[in-house]
Amino acid sequence: MLELQNITKHYGARKALDHIFLTLENGIYGLLGPNGAGKSTLMNIITGNLKPTSGIVLWNGENARNLGPAYLSLLGYAPQQQGLYDTFTGIRFLSYMAALKGIPKKKQKGEIQRVLDYVNLTEKAYRPIGTYSGGMKQRILVAQAILGDPHLIVLDEPTAGLDPKERVRIRENIRNISGDKIILVSTHVVSDIESIAKEIILLRNGKIVDKDTISNLCEKHGNAKNLEQVYLQVFEKEGESDSAHRI
Ligand SMILES: Nc1ncnc2c1ncn2[C@@H]1O[C@H](COP(=O)(O)OP(=O)(O)O)[C@@H](O)[C@H]1O
Ligand SMILES: [Mg+2]
Repeated sequence: MLELQNITKHYGARKALDHIFLTLENGIYGLLGPNGAGKSTLMNIITGNLKPTSGIVLWNGENARNLGPAYLSLLGYAPQQQGLYDTFTGIRFLSYMAALKGIPKKKQKGEIQRVLDYVNLTEKAYRPIGTYSGGMKQRILVAQAILGDPHLIVLDEPTAGLDPKERVRIRENIRNISGDKIILVSTHVVSDIESIAKEIILLRNGKIVDKDTISNLCEKHGNAKNLEQVYLQVFEKEGESDSAHRI
């Protein structure tokens, strides 16, 4: 179980996260919010890449900061900015990531083959990543995130910039990651998560507006017909509040 207790994050005078309390158990969660809502900041705090200004992240009741490498080995993370090495081949990138994650040498080969098959990139494994399409790049990012079968998987906008066919492919990859894991997927596109997430977390201006199943969200937010309508209701004034916030 992952718990965020009273997480606040400031970038200088800018408050990116504001007193976040969040508990995640096994299952797929959609982190939904427009650009600037704080999704990446929240994910970077969960993964330990960023230190919160205040508050703590707990893994099964223990401060994640104190768990060190044990926390990293149960974590898989695909960052939003593609930090991919264009001159590396797919297989070299995954070998590098497997080593970084501390996967034992004997297990690396089989594990890399498993994740390549999983995202259907086995045939392209020996090509440089620079030659990959946007969808293939996202898929190899998902592949490295599931290396070593981590319990906590954090995917930051894995469908950004993809065409509809590739979006569906990524979505199905996420859906099929086996069940006994916590999977957190951020997006600002409702259709990416509406059929796969057990709960949606609505993030607006660094605050959690709501976290619930889609049917409960629809009920609570003006009897909306679907998640898209909930989204429009919660975020329709986003443009205004965003600019007000920046002053
Ligand atoms: N390194 C940074 N320095 C200053 N401000 C930042 C930095 N990263 C993010 N922000 C600001 O924090 C807010 C939340 O950003 P972010 O977490 O990237 O949101 P999202 O991922 O939902 O688009 C935005 O207003 C953004 O401009
Ligand atoms: Mg982001």
